[in-house]
Amino acid sequence: MAQKEKKYLSTSKHYLSQKFWRFLRHIIPLKLWNALYSKRQKLILNDLKKQLEDTLLKARKIDSINLNESSTSKFEDIVVNRGDNLLLEINELKTLFNSFESDKAILHNYNYLYAALFFNLKNNTNDVLEVGTYKGASLKSWKAYFTKSNIYGIDIDPDTVFEEDRIKTMIADQNSLDSLSIVNSLWKQKYDVIIDDGWHQPEASVYTMIAFISELKPKGIYVLEDIDQEKYREFYGELAVIFSKFGYYSEYIDLPKIVPPTNSGYNYGVLVIENI
Ligand SMILES: C[S@@+](CC[C@H](N)C(=O)[O-])C[C@H]1O[C@@H](n2cnc3c(N)ncnc32)[C@H](O)[C@@H]1O
Repeated sequence: MAQKEKKYLSTSKHYLSQKFWRFLRHIIPLKLWNALYSKRQKLILNDLKKQLEDTLLKARKIDSINLNESSTSKFEDIVVNRGDNLLLEINELKTLFNSFESDKAILHNYNYLYAALFFNLKNNTNDVLEVGTYKGASLKSWKAYFTKSNIYGIDIDPDTVFEEDRIKTMIADQNSLDSLSIVNSLWKQKYDVIIDDGWHQPEASVYTMIAFISELKPKGIYVLEDIDQEKYREFYGELAVIFSKFGYYSEYIDLPKIVPPTNSGYNYGVLVIENI
């Protein structure tokens, strides 16, 4: 069987299983869900954290672990003290996200975050990867914002695949290291920016980091979207510590606390990792 067909079949099998879990999530009471799904997650997460540490050790090419002691509010400070220049970037991103119909500004106010993260990188960004293509709205927004950059998108849903000048997409499942490794072997790409806006479950986040962190260029930025305080306390805080141990800069930005409310009810922060 051709490699492409094999990839499609294995990804669609995962897609069905994921759809099954999502269906269960909506029909069973929260307590039962926690008992079923969270137990399943915990079983695999400990192993995944070890795999992530091994990957980071190789990526940093170091044989000892040092805690990175840098300040914990580098990016949050920029958002909080936003000056006139940043306000221009914030508005530009809002216009782009809204015109392409991405929910990143209207539901999440992520234009504040991304202005702070990217205003310095804007003209030197050549390769952006986003996990979670959906209808391509954010990929098209990045293409318009990073005028010199190629934009790559992956998604588990076969209906999301499209291609246009400077944008490439591929079907891939972020819950499968095999599937993500096919992305790396076909695109052979290093990225200035990686954004995870896909399945938003801890194990998917870690699989994706394991697959792509070695492909993050020096000074590159990796963003995990949609992490509320509870998820951060329960799991993502540990990930931030792991990245710090390996010399990356990591910062949880509790965005709803520092930007105007959106009235959407989506009060999510983000975890940002910088390859310093
Ligand atoms: C919130 S949407 C992405 C929105 C898009 N980034 C934007 O702003 O326009 C999330 C996407 O993640 C995809 N997704 C869900 N589970 C996934 C998985 N396991 N692997 C890859 N993509 C997944 C969904 O199919 C969906 O298209």
